[in-house]
Amino acid sequence: MTAPPRQSNRKPGQRRPGQSAQAAREEAERSPGLPARLAAAAILSDVVAKAHPLDDCFSPQAVPSRISGLDPRDVALTRSICTAALRRLGTIRKALAQRLEKGLPKSVAHLEWTLIAAAAQILFLDVPDHAAVDLAVRATRLEAKSTPFAGLVNAVLRNIARAREEILAGADPLRDDVPVWLAARWIKTYGEEAAERIARANRDEPTLDLTVKSDPAGWAARLGGLVLPTGSVRLLTHAPIAELEGYGDGLWQVQDAAAALPARLLRIEPGARIADFCAAPGGKAAQLAFRGAKVTAIDRSAERLKRLAANFARLGVDAEIVVADVASLKAQPFDAVLLDAPCLSTGTIRRHPDVAWTKKPSDLARLVETQARMLDRAVELTRPGGEIVYCTCSLEPEEGEAQIAALLRRNREVERSPIGADEIGGLAEALTPEGELRTLPFHLPAQDPRAGGLDGFFAARLRRL
Ligand SMILES: C[S@@+](CC[C@H](N)C(=O)[O-])C[C@H]1O[C@@H](n2cnc3c(N)ncnc32)[C@H](O)[C@@H]1O
Repeated sequence: MTAPPRQSNRKPGQRRPGQSAQAAREEAERSPGLPARLAAAAILSDVVAKAHPLDDCFSPQAVPSRISGLDPRDVALTRSICTAALRRLGTIRKALAQRLEKGLPKSVAHLEWTLIAAAAQILFLDVPDHAAVDLAVRATRLEAKSTPFAGLVNAVLRNIARAREEILAGADPLRDDVPVWLAARWIKTYGEEAAERIARANRDEPTLDLTVKSDPAGWAARLGGLVLPTGSVRLLTHAPIAELEGYGDGLWQVQDAAAALPARLLRIEPGARIADFCAAPGGKAAQLAFRGAKVTAIDRSAERLKRLAANFARLGVDAEIVVADVASLKAQPFDAVLLDAPCLSTGTIRRHPDVAWTKKPSDLARLVETQARMLDRAVELTRPGGEIVYCTCSLEPEEGEAQIAALLRRNREVERSPIGADEIGGLAEALTPEGELRTLPFHLPAQDPRAGGLDGFFAARLRRL
């Protein structure tokens, strides 16, 4: 984690300087929805201004925690507000800029987050307009220096509520809700039309996809979902995952339909020794174990491996777990290696809208270098004749197609082993001419638009010569 967020070191509902504890308590009691709104504004600032991943902000280890003291319903509401705001941040900022021509004075610049959180509720959530406006005004009045702006906050938000239809109709998915640098990259790589379809798909709420140990049709029937051609079970539920049948018994795991593909591409015999080089939190390694492989799950993050171990325990997966940097890993060659390398993650924006605002183009060069080093190591540690699957959840070609092309140029000990459409449920549009996997968020369309789409993933299968 980076430095602790400073904007509001007070916990939601905590008193401001000069305010008595009794008065703060009374204020929170008078405005039961206020703590969630304060937490949402603070978290939005942490994510966008300080590049804190959204998941980290909601983790019990977050320091300082913006959600400590909130009841579970308020935590869920805070998360909904943040997710909606991040998914449509450009649309919201445009609407605010049109109504705040002179912007906000520096001394109260943090009010932008209060306005963004409130606008997200008005435009995208099922929250009564008057509640969203009223709580934003109350939040503004919590500090003496921002109190004079309460009237402005009220007027701007009421105006947004009145203009809702016009704002939504005028929002351009690619130009408004994707950072300029990323939109330019997608246009360059995929062309204007596909870039726009990616951006449009990223606006949709993602489905809940499961990878089941066996009997996808049975699980789809039991849980009220459908079986995708790729074998994943897709649900549209918002129910808490742990309450769904089969979770506690470890009979399935949550995994995006695209993320479920790379591990399936390794052609392995039961008992084969397989290394997952970047294993945590373990989704792909578990798939390999389900198929009877002897898995060595390696990751350099001991913390993330704790989550992997907990997932494996629930799923009944037995694997060797190793904390190591694969760059310096010493091991006997494996029968196969899966390398799900760290990347910009721009294929996962639908599920993680914070990625659009926390990742920077300057991160790319370092990641590409790391991936290349890991790929070289994967080749070295695969026995002759063994397979390697390299994948990233990125839409950037430097982390996918170009990375593999560069490997094949510099290393003659490995060749591409093309993937067939029959291996990925007939999803031919997701194959490149070289036989590599390239899913885009708008692939796998469905009659019910809420049931379509998947993460953007790249995967290549290689064979050690
Ligand atoms: C994309 S995530 C892996 C997701 C995982 N394969 C799954 O399916 O659940 C990338 C992982 O790479 C790990 N990592 C990054 N650099 C590494 C290195 N040099 N050696 C080992 N692991 C590394 C990170 O800690 C992170 O857990």
